[in-house]
Amino acid sequence: MKKEITVGVLGCGYWGPLLVRNFRGLPQCRLKAVCDADIARVKHICALYSDLEGVTASQQLITACDLDAIVIATPVKSHYPLAKASLLAGKHTFIEKPMATSSQECEELIEIAERKGLILMVDHTFLYSAPVQKIVEIVETGDLGEIRYINSRRLNLGLFQKDINVTWDLAPHDISIILHILGEFPLAINCQGNAHVHRDVEDVTNMSLSFPHKRFATIQSSWLEPRKIREMTIVGTRRMIVYDDLQTREKIRIYDARVERPPHFDTFAEFQYSYHYGDSYIPYIHQEEPLKLACQHFIECIKTNSEPLTGGRRGLEMVRILEAANASLKMNGAPVTFAASARPAPAFASAKTEEVLEVEAFAG
Ligand SMILES: NC(=O)c1ccc[n+]([C@@H]2O[C@H](COP(=O)([O-])OP(=O)(O)OC[C@H]3O[C@@H](n4cnc5c(N)ncnc54)[C@H](O)[C@@H]3O)[C@@H](O)[C@H]2O)c1
Repeated sequence: MKKEITVGVLGCGYWGPLLVRNFRGLPQCRLKAVCDADIARVKHICALYSDLEGVTASQQLITACDLDAIVIATPVKSHYPLAKASLLAGKHTFIEKPMATSSQECEELIEIAERKGLILMVDHTFLYSAPVQKIVEIVETGDLGEIRYINSRRLNLGLFQKDINVTWDLAPHDISIILHILGEFPLAINCQGNAHVHRDVEDVTNMSLSFPHKRFATIQSSWLEPRKIREMTIVGTRRMIVYDDLQTREKIRIYDARVERPPHFDTFAEFQYSYHYGDSYIPYIHQEEPLKLACQHFIECIKTNSEPLTGGRRGLEMVRILEAANASLKMNGAPVTFAASARPAPAFASAKTEEVLEVEAFAG
């Protein structure tokens, strides 16, 4: 393997420039070229970084710029054709979340990457963030006891998307974190919501995911809230965590709080004693930009030929859940179950044993 991995970024709208900045700053990597269908975006990026080649045709970036890897940061509907062209041209490929618009598209991309021995990674950025890694570490020590449920809220005003609803835009972050913490795939999903501003594009949704052993998670997503909220609560049988991603330093607070059912009680006052209120504490977290760590992971996986933490199969799992959420939305929140025989292996335990999952939607 040669020393430097040459990279090109495709899509320089809102998110692409952040990828440009991060890949540019990495050792063992040379960001060589950028592409956007909009010439004004190409000129803007090339004015900021004069050493970059800029093109407007994706095929030119993929085939003519002598690159090892392509990073795709375009709208979701273009992920599949661009990633397919990139993989078929023999390029390692990094795709922004969500991986594609359907599980069929994801399966095809995985198959091409495997057949050609290429690294395929999806940017589930939060799994590279220090607070999420800290939460997983705490859960793995058993400090929380058994997890009872997770509740997540990701709310703000805008940015409205035209091709995807708010679930596809915001919930991938929550879903990736929840699957990572629980380490398994849900049994069923319900999702309700409404399109208030653009017809047929839901801007407010509430999703619940049921997991084995009566565990569940709820995710609230909105583009219509006056305040920006990024909050997740993880409730265990022994302790609880509140994760507020908008806090600068104290993102995680662990509460030594629980409710224990007393063996017997006669009065309400006696029942009160079953509440346990202990200390709360804030663990130290060494912060680094999660996107930088995601980009670095991609380069390391290319260099070591290893499967990324968020490889194509994690991207596929996400898209299956989003598809099920859309199916449930169309049925006013009726549950959509995943066939038991075809359920994937625990989310992050082993990518090798994962089987094809069929989504069985049924009303009521
Ligand atoms: N990981 C995260 O936290 C995060 C955050 C924001 C956005 N994203 C993802 O990044 C992707 C891009 O989102 P955005 O908000 O930057 O969108 P955007 O609309 O701001 O930018 C997309 C850019 O892609 C260009 N483009 C579209 N089709 C193209 C094509 N075929 N060839 C070349 N250029 C093309 C457009 O001209 C535009 O400049 C989406 O998948 C989104 O979900 C991820």
